[in-house]
Amino acid sequence: MTIKEARFVKSSVGLKGCPQDDLPEYAFIGRSNVGKSSLINMLTNRNKLAKTSTTPGKTQLINHFLINKEWYLVDLPGYGYAKMPVKEREKMMNMIREYILKRQSLACLFLLIDTRLEMQKADRQFLHFLGSNQIPFTLVFTKTDKITPSQVKQNIDQYKKTLLETWESLPPVFLTSALHKKGRKELLEFIRKTLR
Ligand code: GTP
Ligand code: MG
Repeated sequence: MTIKEARFVKSSVGLKGCPQDDLPEYAFIGRSNVGKSSLINMLTNRNKLAKTSTTPGKTQLINHFLINKEWYLVDLPGYGYAKMPVKEREKMMNMIREYILKRQSLACLFLLIDTRLEMQKADRQFLHFLGSNQIPFTLVFTKTDKITPSQVKQNIDQYKKTLLETWESLPPVFLTSALHKKGRKELLEFIRKTLR
């Protein structure tokens, strides 16, 4: 699929503020700093469409980007940022949960995982939330450029193994690098297929 047009539409503090035109949307979630905003820029081929930062906690609202006037990419705030005050963290988590549980037009949720790390506590908790609410998701491993291909394979195999300790089957899996635009074609093809 070609992205002809990518336009920032709005930032919302909660479900109520989100666009109401019912277009299908593809949302990105994961720990702070995992690369959600970078992946949106990579997919749209636009360096500064979504705001990125070297420090965690950059995205704090629900951001809608309209693609080809037909569907949305949604940049969500990250979870698991230890330095954020507890109250704020809870507020953000509630916003994320409400969005995921109640957003009717959510077509697909992409859960981003840093390829370099073993399963983190915050991810374990988030996976539990998805599982207990029967929310389908797709796994996207990020930052594959930061380690060697054999390490990538080893880490992802281990991650899948860990998942299968609590999950009956594995979701679809994508390997990406925002730096090298790896996984772009595959992800856009996946979105194209699910759009129909
Ligand atoms: P929050 O909005 O804080 O939740 O973070 P985020 O998940 O949106 O992460 P963001 O896209 O802002 O990226 C965090 C940092 O990781 C930035 O410095 C990015 O340049 C870097 N980064 C993201 N993806 C990649 C990647 O695939 N490869 C490399 N080398 N760096 C990446
Ligand atoms: Mg972000």
